[in-house]
Amino acid sequence: MNKMSFQIAIDGPAGAGKSTIARKVAKQKGFIYVDTGAMYRAMAYYLLSKKVSPKDAQAIEENCQNADITICYEEGEQVVLLNGENVNGVIRSEAVGNMASASSPNPKVRERLTLLQKELAKTNNVVMDGRDIGTCVLPDADVKIYLTASSKVRAKRRFDELSAKGISCDIEQIEADIIKRDEQDMTRKVAPLKQAEDAVLLDSSHMTVDEVAGAILDLCEKREKGKEL
Ligand code: DC
Repeated sequence: MNKMSFQIAIDGPAGAGKSTIARKVAKQKGFIYVDTGAMYRAMAYYLLSKKVSPKDAQAIEENCQNADITICYEEGEQVVLLNGENVNGVIRSEAVGNMASASSPNPKVRERLTLLQKELAKTNNVVMDGRDIGTCVLPDADVKIYLTASSKVRAKRRFDELSAKGISCDIEQIEADIIKRDEQDMTRKVAPLKQAEDAVLLDSSHMTVDEVAGAILDLCEKREKGKEL
C-alpha cells in the first residue's frame, strides 16, 4: 500500500519517556504528535465515571460504545475530547492509568480507538506513541522505535514528575504498579506490547532526552534517504 504520510511509531512500556521524546521529535519534524495512551485513558475515565469494574468485560464492552473520543490540537498540543469535553486535565492519575491498562485489552475498546488512530495517520505526518503502534496500528510505519528503560529508572522518573506537582507518593509502590502494568500490557491476548520485528530498540535508562530524540531523528534521515534502518 502506498502511504501519503511519513509515520514514526514509538512503542514501549509505561514511563519509558515515549511522550516526551515523541513530542520533541514531532516538533522538530513539524509533524503532529498522537498520544494514543491518552485516548485509552479518556475511555478509562469514562468507564470509571460509570462505575464500571475493571474486571467486568461485558460492562466495559457495553459502556465503551457511549464514549465518543476524538482529538484536536490547540497551539500544537493534543487535546482529548470525551463526548465533546476536554479531559486532558483529569486523565493522568494512577487510578485512570490502571483502569486504562485493565480496559484496553477489550476488543471493542481497541476497535474504536485503533480506527481513529489509523485515520489520523492516513492524512497527517505523525509521530504516534503507544503499545501496539508498530505492530498493529501502523504496520507500514517508516520508522519504528521500541523505547524502554529499567523499571527502577521509570519509577524514579514518575516519582520526580509527581513530586514536582506536589503529589506525595511512594517510589516502591510506583515501581510495583509499573511492573504490574507492564505484565498486563505484555501478556494480553489482543495487541500486546511487544517489539515489532522491524523496530529499533532504544534503552533510555542512561540516555538524555536529547540523545534519544537525536537517535530517532538520525533514523528518520536515513529513512528519508531510502536507506534500511
Ligand atoms: O501510555 P499510557 O500510560 O498513557 O497508557 C495507558 C494504558 O493504555 C496502558 O497501560 C495500556 C493502554 N494503551 C494501549 O493498550 N495501547 C496503546 N496504543 C496505548 C495505551
